[in-house]
Order: sequence, then C-alpha cells, then structure tokens
Amino acid sequence: MSTEPTGTHIVSRSHELRVALKGLRKSGRTIGLVPTMRALHEGHLSLVRAARAECDIVVVSIYVNPTQFGRGEDFDRYPRDLEADTGYLSDLGVNWVFAPTDAEMYPAGFDTWVQPGRIAERWEGEFRPGHFRGVATVVLKLFSMVGPDRAYFGEKDYQQLLVIRRMTEDFNVPVTICACPTVREPDGLAMSSRNAYLSPEHRRQARVLSQSLCSAAESVASGERSAKNLVTAMRSIIATAADAVIDYVAVVDPNTLEPVSSVTGPVQALLAVRIGGVRLIDNLRLTPPEVSAPAPSPE
Ligand code: PAJ
Repeated sequence: MSTEPTGTHIVSRSHELRVALKGLRKSGRTIGLVPTMRALHEGHLSLVRAARAECDIVVVSIYVNPTQFGRGEDFDRYPRDLEADTGYLSDLGVNWVFAPTDAEMYPAGFDTWVQPGRIAERWEGEFRPGHFRGVATVVLKLFSMVGPDRAYFGEKDYQQLLVIRRMTEDFNVPVTICACPTVREPDGLAMSSRNAYLSPEHRRQARVLSQSLCSAAESVASGERSAKNLVTAMRSIIATAADAVIDYVAVVDPNTLEPVSSVTGPVQALLAVRIGGVRLIDNLRLTPPEVSAPAPSPE
C-alpha cells in the first residue's frame, strides 16, 4: 500500500522516477505527463491544470531537447530558469518534476531514432528539417520513462500534436493523448517562450498573426469557401507588419495537413511568420456554419 505523495519532488534520473511511480501505479493511481522545455508560461500551465484535474499523479518533464533544434536555431539562447519553473509547478500541486540531464536522455552510444512519416513532411517539417524526428524520439523516450496513462499537449503546436498522436498509435503506446486549447495574450498573440525575444515594436507587429487567423474564421463564417482567397487575405493582413517574413500560410485538412482548395467542412489554418528574426507559429480551426456535425477535434 503506497502512501499519498506530498510536495513537489524534483528528479533528474529516470530510474528514481520509475521506482517512485511503480508503487503508485500498482495501487491504481492514474499518472498524467506534461512534457515541456522550460520557460513555463500560462500555455504550459493550462496543460498542467488539465492534468491535475484529470489524474491522480502529475509528472511534468522539463528538458530542452537538443535533437529537435536545427543548426542556427535558438537552442543556445533558449530561456532556462528551473527554479522559477518548479515554483509555478509546486503551486499547482505537481507531484514530480522530471528534469533529466543530456547524459540521462542521450547517453554515449545513443543511436536509435523515431522517424515520423507523411504528417511531418510539410510545414514545420519543411522549414525545420529533423525537428519532428527529435520531438518524436524524445517524447517516446519520455513515455517509456514515465509510463503515463494520459499525456497533455497544446493545440498551439498543431502539427506536433498530430505527429505525436500518429507515433503513439503506430508504436502501440498505451497512453491517451489529450489536446489542450491555445492560450493567448489579451491581444490574441498565442503564448510562446519565443515571445520574450520580441522587441516592443515587434511584439506590437506580432498581433497580425492572430488577426489574420480570426479574419479567416470570420470570412468562413460569412460564406467564403475558397482556400486561395483565404490565404491571400491572411497574407495581406500579415504584410501590414513591416518586419514580417512569411514562412508559410496554409489552409489544410485538419487530420492530414494536406492543403484543401475549398472549405467544405472544418479546416485548419496554419501559419509560420518571422518577425524581426523571431519565428512564431499559430493556427486556428475554421468551421463553416452549415457544418452541423461537431468538428473532428484533435482530441
Ligand atoms: P514547449 O514548447 O515547452 O511546449 C510544451 C507544451 O506546451 C506543448 O505541448 C505545447 O504545445 C504547449 N504549449 C505551448 N504554448 C502553448 C499555448 N500558448 N497554449 C497551449 N499550449 C501551449 O513543445 C515542446 O515544448 C516540445 O516539443 C516537447 C513536446 C516538450 C518535446 O521536447
């Protein structure tokens, strides 16, 4: 009979975590995992709250995974403040913070990778080669180390969510993937650790991302069915920001991420834009009003 865990424990060794969780799992406690990369904000904390509400034991992993960053990306300047992060997590009643070292995650001789398929090819996959291989590999490792019943991911990283769902199903991982809605700043900008890199002027310009998505949702609600027209309109809103450089703007099937030509059901608008050199991504479900059946949720 294991006792109820109290307080927030910080562990860096997966063996230690495994031993601690074994008894709890045996006694029927459900385990929720929230994988993160530090610099926690309200977006991350919303996942933690969902896990806290739905699971007996909550584990948050904090690991800036080097294998999902490409050369020239922001791995080296990725904000790291473990103390502040664990403070927030402790306030939310998280039981374990798992903060492994690189040596724990990728010991000498590590040589096996998860290679996601079609769902990872376009969009982020095209602009960040190797990114989803790193994500899928580290997430599968976290699943193996923690053995969660439920794992929580944000719709903010929509393609990542679909890559992880596919990988979980393809590798028969016995975990339920739970999708949580995007948390936004009051002006609509999706919360992201990268927002901290924006200068005040670029932060102001960054509003065009959510503005373009909301405008597309409104157009679909009022009858626009041409994906091309939607993309053109979104691009022209983004172009009003002087320093915005578009990587992609697309209207796609929400399950396959293949571009659609017309909106005959729920679709997903996806975009990636660099503003003053800071790369931001966002997305929104666009649902035509005549679709009476509930939209296929990513959950
Ligand atoms: P990270 O960028 O730290 O994000 C951790 C989780 O928080 C992801 O599931 C992400 O989608 C979610 N998230 C981030 N911003 C959000 C927002 N504004 N609203 C809702 N959810 C949000 O994504 C990663 O880390 C990594 O790739 C990881 C999955 C941890 C693997 O290394």
